[in-house]
Amino acid sequence: MQFINFKTAQAASEYVAKQMVQLVKTNPNASFGLATGSTPILLYEALAKDYQANQTNWSQIKTFNLDEYLNLPLDHPQTYHVFMNQHLFSKININLDQTYFPQLDQNYDYLIDSLGGIDLQILGIGTNGHIGFNEPGSALDSLTRVVDLTQETINVNANKFFDGNTDLVPKQAISMGISSILKAKKIILLAFGQSKKAVVKTLKSITKFDINFPASALILHPDVTIISDDEANE
Ligand code: F6R
Repeated sequence: MQFINFKTAQAASEYVAKQMVQLVKTNPNASFGLATGSTPILLYEALAKDYQANQTNWSQIKTFNLDEYLNLPLDHPQTYHVFMNQHLFSKININLDQTYFPQLDQNYDYLIDSLGGIDLQILGIGTNGHIGFNEPGSALDSLTRVVDLTQETINVNANKFFDGNTDLVPKQAISMGISSILKAKKIILLAFGQSKKAVVKTLKSITKFDINFPASALILHPDVTIISDDEANE
């Protein structure tokens, strides 16, 4: 695992955006695994800016989102479908038919494999070490499935996205599994802000998979970069 720290989340996001744009240019058919949440917003902003300036051609790119809440109508403002449209898909010339989200009654892992797999997976990380919605206790061989969100995740997401009202946060989601994530060719995990300091510290000390800290699974992957900002880094 490689660690790169930037002074600000803005600088870090611009660095990752450059890598993504480079991949789009060198492989116009590339596939990205994408995260939602507060962390990648600046990254998506940087990609939108690049598109405005350079018309980078995303028309053949495929994207696979990590997760989606269950029991929210798909046009609800807090679904990850709406998030992605708002922050990225409406800002670039991506073909929406090639943007995928995990859904019930669908074999998402098979779909990803059959479309050639993921070249670059972007991850955030929860304060409890979750990646995707693989909460502590998620097995190393887990695939895309329905998951129960922990109370910690419900509280954090209530404060960030549901006006602090935990009743409004869905209690379940459908998420790529740890094994699904590890199949990506390359993984970049973003960790920004004070609230991620403890998890960045834990990531630095990882030597083996620990089921109570799902992001520890990344130690088993040959090409993982953890990108932090000063606030998340000691
Ligand atoms: C989102 C996702 C989650 C978030 C994590 C961090 O698609 O899979 O693992 O990356 O909860 O969320 P933020 O970025 O809001 O701190």
